[in-house]
Amino acid sequence: MDLLHTTRALQRRADVERGAGHRLALVPTMGALHAGHLSLVEEARRRADRVWLSIFVNPTQFNDSKDLAKYPRTLEEDLGKCRQAGVDLVFAPTAAEMYPEGAQTCVDVGELAHPLCGATRPGHFSGVTTVVAKLFLAAKPHVAVFGEKDFQQLAVIRRMTRDLLFDVEVVGAPTVRESDGLALSSRNVNLDPEARRQATVLVRSLETAERAIVAGERSAAALLHGVEREIGKAPLAQIDYAQLRHPESLEPAPAVLEGPVLLALAVVFHSPEGADGASVRLIDNRILDPKPLSGGISP
Ligand code: PAF
Repeated sequence: MDLLHTTRALQRRADVERGAGHRLALVPTMGALHAGHLSLVEEARRRADRVWLSIFVNPTQFNDSKDLAKYPRTLEEDLGKCRQAGVDLVFAPTAAEMYPEGAQTCVDVGELAHPLCGATRPGHFSGVTTVVAKLFLAAKPHVAVFGEKDFQQLAVIRRMTRDLLFDVEVVGAPTVRESDGLALSSRNVNLDPEARRQATVLVRSLETAERAIVAGERSAAALLHGVEREIGKAPLAQIDYAQLRHPESLEPAPAVLEGPVLLALAVVFHSPEGADGASVRLIDNRILDPKPLSGGISP
């Protein structure tokens, strides 16, 4: 497995591989790799004969410097996992490499980046799209794979790819979960043990909403009320947002649901009083599909 640190070296390598007829897949990450990232690598492998993974904790997508400081950094372990997973090349640049002295240009997709995480983490998606655009230009992949856990991120990156005419196929891969249902996230390691136990409330509230839909509930307000009640059962949980949105435009869902909707959650888990652990913000989501209710007029 090769390890490159500069964009020039990566671009030259991409030209050589493309020239030799290889199909390149890129898995962009911020490191602290877990089974969720490795599932992205597997998806990439199904779609290309060269799998490249980038590891870069991108400072411009953190709107809180404490969050950036405590983001786990585990490069040596990550490289071992990449080797085992059959990654062909890891790109691990420095911040100065990705943002040369005086860099000012950024990529902003507009509307899609405003609600949900965009509202509570101002500037976050501008940082994401700027760095992903740079990674696309540096690695020149045919295909790039991202996790569906970061649903809005995936939508924003798809929009950017279309709008800027990048010749890259953007692929979403399903969320990987712990045995108790908690979505894998690099941030999970920062949870206090009691907060970790309570964090399963995220998946439980998605399931609550799904059950309600299956039972015939079509009121957006009633569904969200059920979600909030479920999250309220976890004393360490504080809702950042719980919203129903159109799965592509991310516009607010109608009051009475008719087609598929995105249920998107962001919840901050605090440490119990007296414990000195940090607060950790986690996200999760599910597409709810309110199929037409049976029992209508028979043909
Ligand atoms: O999802 C992530 O890990 C990051 O947001 C990404 C896409 C690698 C951009 O820094």
